[in-house]
Amino acid sequence: MTDRPEDAFFTLHADLPREGPGETADVAWAAELAGLKPDARILDAASGPGGDIGALLRAAPSGHVTAIDLHAPFIIAAQARWGVDARVTLLTGDMTAPEGPFDFIWCAGAVYFLGVEAALRAWTPRLAPGGVIAFSEPCLFTDTPSEGALAFWEGYPRLTDAAGIAAQVAAAGFTTLATRRIGDIGWESYFRPMEARIARLRPGADAALSAVLDQAEAEIALWRAHRAETGYLLSLVSPA
Ligand SMILES: C[S@@+](CC[C@H](N)C(=O)[O-])C[C@H]1O[C@@H](n2cnc3c(N)ncnc32)[C@H](O)[C@@H]1O
Repeated sequence: MTDRPEDAFFTLHADLPREGPGETADVAWAAELAGLKPDARILDAASGPGGDIGALLRAAPSGHVTAIDLHAPFIIAAQARWGVDARVTLLTGDMTAPEGPFDFIWCAGAVYFLGVEAALRAWTPRLAPGGVIAFSEPCLFTDTPSEGALAFWEGYPRLTDAAGIAAQVAAAGFTTLATRRIGDIGWESYFRPMEARIARLRPGADAALSAVLDQAEAEIALWRAHRAETGYLLSLVSPA
């Protein structure tokens, strides 16, 4: 193999069931609290390979899910799983582009690319009356985080705690209806398939790929060591 660093990254990340932490129960929690109707129009913003599409359809069996991601190979992977389902539209593009209107915007592990305030402002005109948004965002669960906990997010400049996230939500003109931490099952649903893939890729990996595999293993170890101090907070929000 002669991977460049970015190719090596996607060699590791291709064909994983999901690209960030989360589980079916997170979607069910948000959908139930949101009072989602069976025919809800849903946006899965930055869907990755579509790991949450099944849970979103279970929450709205006669609804429609528009799933969009910037990285075309993830959408191609989602196509293989959901391409024949008429309830699903798969798009390559920016997560703020689909015009809607949507009853529910779901964004797992990707609002940090834009920032909470910017993402919510961009989605405001895309929400149907009564529509809600659920998103997960890096969060500190302690006032005294260790260096390891801070290092896990690699200096993410907006890293804050639950009150800080709620303040960003309010600044965008939204109210926080409820929050919950993404639990260990959600994180392991992301990390365990990645570990299996690392083990498969190790033999014969070139220097670029080895570096990416080392980094991924270090990230997994860092989260396991500091998971009481930091993680993702899932917030359910509605326009104020
Ligand atoms: C941590 S992954 C989460 C993916 C998916 N929600 C999941 O939980 O499996 C973040 C995703 O955001 C996508 N992404 C980043 N910026 C984006 C943007 N502006 N519009 C659409 N997708 C974006 C990346 O391509 C990547 O698939």
